[in-house]
Amino acid sequence: MNILGVHAGHDSSASLIIDGKIVADVAEERFNRIKHSPGLPFRSIEYCLRSQGLSMNDIDVIAIPSQSPISSLSLLFEGIYKKETKGPTLKSTLKSVLKKEKEEKTRIRWQQELPLYIQKFKIASHTKVVHIEHHQSHAASAYYTSGTREKQLVVTMDGHGDESSITIWRAEDGKLSCLKRFGYGASLGWFYSNVTEAIGWMHGDGEGKTMGLDPYGKRDKLKGLLDSFYPKFKNGEIIYEHDFGDLNVYNENGYNQYHFRDADEIKKLVDKYGREDIAAEAQRVLEEQCFNIIFPWMEKEKTQNLSCSGGIFLNVKLNQRIWETGKVKLHTIYGNPADAGLAVGAALQAYYDAKPEAPIHLMRDLYYGPEYSNEEIEVILKARNLKYTKVDNAPQHAAKLLADNKIVAWFQGRMESGPRALGNRSILMSANRSENKDIINAKVKFREAFRPFCPSLLWEKREDYLENCRDEFFMITSFTCKPEKRNKIPAVVHADHTLRPQTVKKELNERYWSLINEFGKLTGEYLLMNTSLNVMGEPMINHPREAIRCFYDNGMDYLILNDFVLSKD
Ligand SMILES: [Fe+2]
Repeated sequence: MNILGVHAGHDSSASLIIDGKIVADVAEERFNRIKHSPGLPFRSIEYCLRSQGLSMNDIDVIAIPSQSPISSLSLLFEGIYKKETKGPTLKSTLKSVLKKEKEEKTRIRWQQELPLYIQKFKIASHTKVVHIEHHQSHAASAYYTSGTREKQLVVTMDGHGDESSITIWRAEDGKLSCLKRFGYGASLGWFYSNVTEAIGWMHGDGEGKTMGLDPYGKRDKLKGLLDSFYPKFKNGEIIYEHDFGDLNVYNENGYNQYHFRDADEIKKLVDKYGREDIAAEAQRVLEEQCFNIIFPWMEKEKTQNLSCSGGIFLNVKLNQRIWETGKVKLHTIYGNPADAGLAVGAALQAYYDAKPEAPIHLMRDLYYGPEYSNEEIEVILKARNLKYTKVDNAPQHAAKLLADNKIVAWFQGRMESGPRALGNRSILMSANRSENKDIINAKVKFREAFRPFCPSLLWEKREDYLENCRDEFFMITSFTCKPEKRNKIPAVVHADHTLRPQTVKKELNERYWSLINEFGKLTGEYLLMNTSLNVMGEPMINHPREAIRCFYDNGMDYLILNDFVLSKD
């Protein structure tokens, strides 16, 4: 059973699931190089099919993570609505779309005469098309990767999608049942994004910076100051809905920027009280309100198992606080929880709808993107007249350079889906010197000095470094660093003594594990600073030629592409 998941909103993406196994998943931004790229993910679909030697004719089901029967996907799958038989809003939406299209003559013309390239993606007559609601797609991404069919509560939270901002699900025996759904007025995601925009970053992009700034502010100092800007919850129910007004979208060369009027008002408070204390208050509010929703529902459902997805759960500190309550026994957060993960979620839901009795496997890595062979890479290097050497043991070679305090770009195997570099498209440096954080910021990433870097550490050594630890494969939860290690790895310890780690298991990424292990043998610390291979504001690098360009555009010392080493010496 071949299921193609296709998400066409912001952070558009495609995924391919064969007989329940995810075999490819990639966001369009990695190909077209526009961060959070919206629209039709042609290149991602093409990659998913090509990676498995398939064509559109081989697809049994197309799963679309949107309830709306009319979406920009209508441009992609010409003829799709002849097949569509259900959907309560079909008639009314069709009417409004047709009216709009009358006004947009060029769009009609474009739909009638599809370019040959796009015609390749027409659906076959035997392919079934299913729409999976936005939040159910998020919920499916969490439950169907949690490793167990056991009963659990699934919570999804984001800005909004398909008219919901928060949903609560009972997951049991391979099935998801919706218990509660909250609308626009409940959006904690929009609140946090409004604060982010008010501080000076982009709504839908800079939220991690707001979270990184939180420890520099004083918690409770401004308690209550933001009270008129967010919805409030008690005992799992909403007690105050917030009127956010209109969502404004401004598209600049393919890059969507979002804006609500609240951001203007919050900015006045930022100007008056400073961004650090405002960030701290926003984080406090987010944690408090999420607790007011999540734990009452866990009690009602009599379960200690919790799975989460949706963009809010990129907030590693919220995830840490939930874990540290001790109320959660099984805590799963999907590693790609924002909308780029919807293609996988919809495809998984389509699979388990067809096979509800199928086992649920634990997802432990996100290496679902393109890879490049040594032969392909050498052709690229030769064509550019670059000097390089080929080494027999790249992990050992890299470890020596890192022990010598060099900055090494590490490009290996399949690109990660999701926002974090997990050792295949990474920039690495020793975390053993505190100045290394500033060196990477100043010479390579060109980003704000306060932002923390994540570490990758050997899974076997996790208890040496992390308080209250558990498996953490995706850098999606922070943990408090053991006091005795804080001055040993200062470059990755944040102002609140936390780490946002990836624990690296040998069986999941042997080359990366070997690199860290060799580094540990040389320095005594089985941990490295790991940041994604890109520069600030750009998507993670996919192709060797982009890695080469990035290497010569900043202050990295070495680039290792599979077995090939490039040096600036
Ligand atoms: Fe979402």
